[in-house]
Amino acid sequence: MPGDEREGQGRRLLGLAVEASSNGIVLTDATRYDNPIIYVNPAFERITGYPASEVLGRNCRFLRDPQEAQPTLDLLRAAVEEGREWTGILRNYRKNGTPFWNELHLAPVRDAEGRLTNYIGIQEDVTARKEAEEALKESEERYEVAIRGSNDGIWDWDLTTDEVHYSPRWKEMLGYEDHELESGFDSWRDRIHPEDRERVMATMRGYLEGRTDHYELEHRLLHRDGSYRWILTRGASVRGADGAPYRLAGSHTDVTGRKELEERLEHRAFHDGLTGLPNRALFTERLEHALARAGRRENPVAVLFLDLDGFKEINDELGHEAGDRVLVEVARRLKENARPGDTVARLGGDEFTVLLEDTQGAEDAARVAERISGKLSPPIRLEGVEVSVSASIGVALGDPARVRPQDLVREADNAMYRSKGRGKGLYEVHGTGKSAPLRPTAPGSSAIGTAAAEDPAGCTSGGASACAPSSQRSGTPPARGRTAGSKGFENGSCSRCETLPEKLAGPGRLYLWLPLDHTMTKAYHHLRAEGWTVESARDYSVVVRLDDGRLTDLVSSLSAVLSGQEAEDTRALFKPGGDGLTVSDIPRAQPLNRLSSLGNSDWLLDMLSEGRLTSFFQPIVSVGAPHEIFAQECLLRGIDEEGGLVTPGRIFGAAKNSRMLFQTDLAARRTAIREATLHGVTSNLFINFTPAAVYDPVFCLRSTVEAVREAGLSPERIVFEVTETEEAKDVDHLKNIAAFYREKGFRVALDDVGSGYSSLNMIHRLRPDFIKLDMQLVRGVDQDPYKALVAGKVLEMARGLDVETIVEGVETEGELAWAREKGATFAQGYLFSKPMSPPLRTLSTAR
Ligand SMILES: Cc1cc2nc3c(=O)[nH]c(=O)nc-3n(C[C@H](O)[C@H](O)[C@H](O)COP(=O)(O)O)c2cc1C
Repeated sequence: MPGDEREGQGRRLLGLAVEASSNGIVLTDATRYDNPIIYVNPAFERITGYPASEVLGRNCRFLRDPQEAQPTLDLLRAAVEEGREWTGILRNYRKNGTPFWNELHLAPVRDAEGRLTNYIGIQEDVTARKEAEEALKESEERYEVAIRGSNDGIWDWDLTTDEVHYSPRWKEMLGYEDHELESGFDSWRDRIHPEDRERVMATMRGYLEGRTDHYELEHRLLHRDGSYRWILTRGASVRGADGAPYRLAGSHTDVTGRKELEERLEHRAFHDGLTGLPNRALFTERLEHALARAGRRENPVAVLFLDLDGFKEINDELGHEAGDRVLVEVARRLKENARPGDTVARLGGDEFTVLLEDTQGAEDAARVAERISGKLSPPIRLEGVEVSVSASIGVALGDPARVRPQDLVREADNAMYRSKGRGKGLYEVHGTGKSAPLRPTAPGSSAIGTAAAEDPAGCTSGGASACAPSSQRSGTPPARGRTAGSKGFENGSCSRCETLPEKLAGPGRLYLWLPLDHTMTKAYHHLRAEGWTVESARDYSVVVRLDDGRLTDLVSSLSAVLSGQEAEDTRALFKPGGDGLTVSDIPRAQPLNRLSSLGNSDWLLDMLSEGRLTSFFQPIVSVGAPHEIFAQECLLRGIDEEGGLVTPGRIFGAAKNSRMLFQTDLAARRTAIREATLHGVTSNLFINFTPAAVYDPVFCLRSTVEAVREAGLSPERIVFEVTETEEAKDVDHLKNIAAFYREKGFRVALDDVGSGYSSLNMIHRLRPDFIKLDMQLVRGVDQDPYKALVAGKVLEMARGLDVETIVEGVETEGELAWAREKGATFAQGYLFSKPMSPPLRTLSTAR
């Protein structure tokens, strides 16, 4: 083919190629003004929507919006002006107004002399790519912001190389700087809590192997400071064409705060807030599990139900805070002495339970009850005051085939009630009839409490406290032992109240009279086996010779083998020295368990005989003018050998157990008078007394009256407080006592009104000068419409009867405001002052 022809052919082909190109192609004439278009190919027409006829002779700028500033334009202009090549992306508009991204490549064409003649422009519509890039950028930015905002750490694990990238925040969560942790898998794995590691790895394997759809779990990671942080980790994998993952990436969120809150909430839901012990819900759950497990084992499950004896009195006398501290201490002792695996719980109030998961039977459970009780008996010291607690315990054993958890708790509860009915500090095993006194407890094991339940007839039963004349001055301690003289009834007082029993000490003989053959045999063999010197054993009686100080041990040892009833029915008499028994000794014989109480109350005997009693004073104020002290209530305190204070509850508890109520109550009254005189109290005085400790007012109270007279106090300043009682015969007794006091010019207050059932009855029968509204009814009365109604009615009634009222236990301004509104006359409580010695003379007027 000739050269020209070949050239023509080439041009034609070139023209066809240009026509067929999917890129828009523009030719301009650079020699003419404004660089007009001289050719556009079909792709140009397609992309822009303009036919060639409409664009030829125009400059290409018409494709742009002239108002729109574009960063690349300056570069384009400069290139065109200088005749250079240029590539860049421009935003252009089609004929129909829709925008598109135009990637433009401009190439200058020069003639043989190098002069610019033309420009070739090649366009590519890159809208789709540009939008995808924009979208990606936007989503990346959003992701960035989200991660920064969420405070999450990011990890990205390349499964092919085992390299893991940890974001700076990931490391910061664990206390490290960005450069401090290696980018390896181990940096993470080695920090997982050992207890969580297996679970985490299993979850991850499950996800990577395609068995689970999600990789998400919570686990603990070790922080640099040695603590563990709870981390929520979430991840997703990227899989290859074969479905196998090659990358796993995700986030870490520190959820420690939430986890701790959850743990606290869960703990709170299942534990008692005060003692931290499991609550009823958790106890029941554990019991359910224990019963289920026991079903597969031989050994039964046992539940011990404990209820503290006299806890209410601790609360009433020392306040709720003290009561709470006692509960905390009881909880601590129970927990400390429980076996590993057993559950100690507080069901509420002063009720505790112990779950014994693996007992050997009733005997074993009873032994635990005894051990626990023994651990409760040492006194609890509260800011200088000592209180002792004991518990009544019911034991129930679970046969898993028969029993439901709630049945077992109920059975233990019932057994506890039965044991409480028999006395304090005892236990009973449900369904076995087995009941026994617990190990001899510390003195005053009946906690703080008044001894009002003591039978006044006890005064006549003889024994070591039999009547004898006395010449005691008011406030001086009663004499110890029987007073042989015959001075008669000086001051007309009852010497029973004046004379203390002898201390069960020194060498001597213990005489025992046992109720049954069986009891006799048991006691005899036990004494022999334990090495006691049994001098004789016949006709249901045993005589044991004793060295000094061993009596208490002997009584404890015997009590442990006899049942509660046997110990009650066994009569015992200790004869000090070497003399044999005479007929006059016989009335001194008493139940064995009483002897043991007496032995345990040596401290009280010493306290009374050494006159180690004092009185605290709590002001009673006028409701209308709460800084004015109307009266002081005298509150008994004992002083132990180390100078610490002993509560009245413990004193009266021991007094009642050891039958020294008469002497103790007299000493208490005298102490109040003595201390008030000593401190020069000028206000009225409220003095407590125990009606049960007064056998005959004429005899028993004369000494009190005498003490008042000797102290130079005028009787109308003194108000004797009595507690209401439900027993009709006691009411009569009380009436006589009140009448006696009134006749002598004293006034009478009825205490704790609202705490029992017979207040109304008592008010009209006793006609007191004051009634004291019980603190239980007053506490929170301004917040409790029910209490407010009941308490309000009592006050209203008292006003109608012209009886003055004292609202006890006022602790808040709200309670005081309520008392004022309801027209109460006087108030008493921690809001004004706690019991003090010496007594407060004035109160703050700040209120
Ligand atoms: C061959 C050629 C093709 C061009 N194609 C386009 C185009 O497709 N879109 C566009 O906005 N500008 C295009 N231009 C740029 C404009 O024609 C013009 O040079 C630019 O807008 C600068 O001039 P101005 O500042 O007067 O607008 C092209 C320029 C040449 C030389």
